[in-house]
Amino acid sequence: MVQVNGNYLKLKAGYLFPEIARRVKAFSEANPEAAIIRLGIGDVTEPLPQACRTAMKAAVDELGSREGFRGYGPEQGYPWLREAIAAHDFQARGCQVGAEEIFISDGSKCDSSNILDILGEGNRIAVTDPVYPVYVDSNVMAGRTGEADAQGQYGGLTYLPITAENGFSAPLPQGKVDLIYLCFPNNPTGAVASKAQLQQWVDYALANDALILFDAAYEAFIRDPELPHSIYEIEGARRCAIELRSFSKNAGFTGTRCAFTVVPKGLMGTAATGEQVELWGLWNRRQCTKFNGVSYIVQRGAEAVYSPQGQAEVKTLINFYMDNAAIIRRELSAAGLSVYGGEQAPYVWLKTPAGLDSWGFFDQLLGQAHVVGTPGSGFGAAGEGYFRLSAFNSRANVEEAMRRLRAL
Ligand code: MLT
Repeated sequence: MVQVNGNYLKLKAGYLFPEIARRVKAFSEANPEAAIIRLGIGDVTEPLPQACRTAMKAAVDELGSREGFRGYGPEQGYPWLREAIAAHDFQARGCQVGAEEIFISDGSKCDSSNILDILGEGNRIAVTDPVYPVYVDSNVMAGRTGEADAQGQYGGLTYLPITAENGFSAPLPQGKVDLIYLCFPNNPTGAVASKAQLQQWVDYALANDALILFDAAYEAFIRDPELPHSIYEIEGARRCAIELRSFSKNAGFTGTRCAFTVVPKGLMGTAATGEQVELWGLWNRRQCTKFNGVSYIVQRGAEAVYSPQGQAEVKTLINFYMDNAAIIRRELSAAGLSVYGGEQAPYVWLKTPAGLDSWGFFDQLLGQAHVVGTPGSGFGAAGEGYFRLSAFNSRANVEEAMRRLRAL
């Protein structure tokens, strides 16, 4: 009989969002009349920008002629998209990132786990707690952790707690780690990092020969002009950091799929022999072997994000979701709850009411208000007693959800 990957058997629970969907489905089947409002998974709800749709339609037509037809594209992405990204997202902010350092992909979730292909097995890994569960689960699946303990924490991982007590700012690891996952604006807490805070991480990484995996999927939601959008705004980051970006949340590509990863040239890792190896070459090799690129149509849609019309439409979308976040913050605060995040991020993080743990609050909200959120404990042990509400929904649904919450 075929052998299975035993690492999967170490996983504590189902992946968080399918688990929530399973519970919501069961509730919905038992209560078919309940009008459920979903503020759980951070999935966008508003239509794709017109600029993107126009570009995608034109791309479809191009493929319909012999001259315009394209088969396999470059595994790294089309040069025109990589150049637009380098110019608008990095060079315009003073970051020294070239088009050839950008690898187009079908998602940051995929990239954040695929990157483990090019990293060795013995790395000491640090994650915040709570954390986007993919970082942890992908390491479990790849055999980079031990077993989980009673709290669901995996042996071998260094957990850096982020709670209200430390302002959701993770302490630097006590000892040496080799790989650090950072996400700013943060999923799930909505916290952000200043340049000075990121500089501390970069300095730590350089001093300890560590690699930072910087997830900036939510950078478009930053409103404070003083805050960095990219790790490459920080001195020395090119020598210690890989950055993940996505079109999912800014331009609504969660369904159409397009993202990218920046791997700077000259960013090195160490082989078992002690030899220094450039990570760019390994990632390029990995992508060429295991990935055939994102469709031409979708890449043309992503390119349109950088047109003047695309930029204006994306800004409108971001403002729309951030106005939702402001409504959620205002209403929860008025209800006497302690509320965090939601000012530079589309997630509002709240303390559960006294006497209720995260899943208890989930059940109460679903059962009594028919509103779905995400239990903080699903993001890690230190998320217990917290709860996440997503600002991705229609205005009518957000207002109705808040009305029901107030009535509780
Ligand atoms: C979330 O709700 O945390 C996000 O939808 C996760 C993701 O983008 O994969």
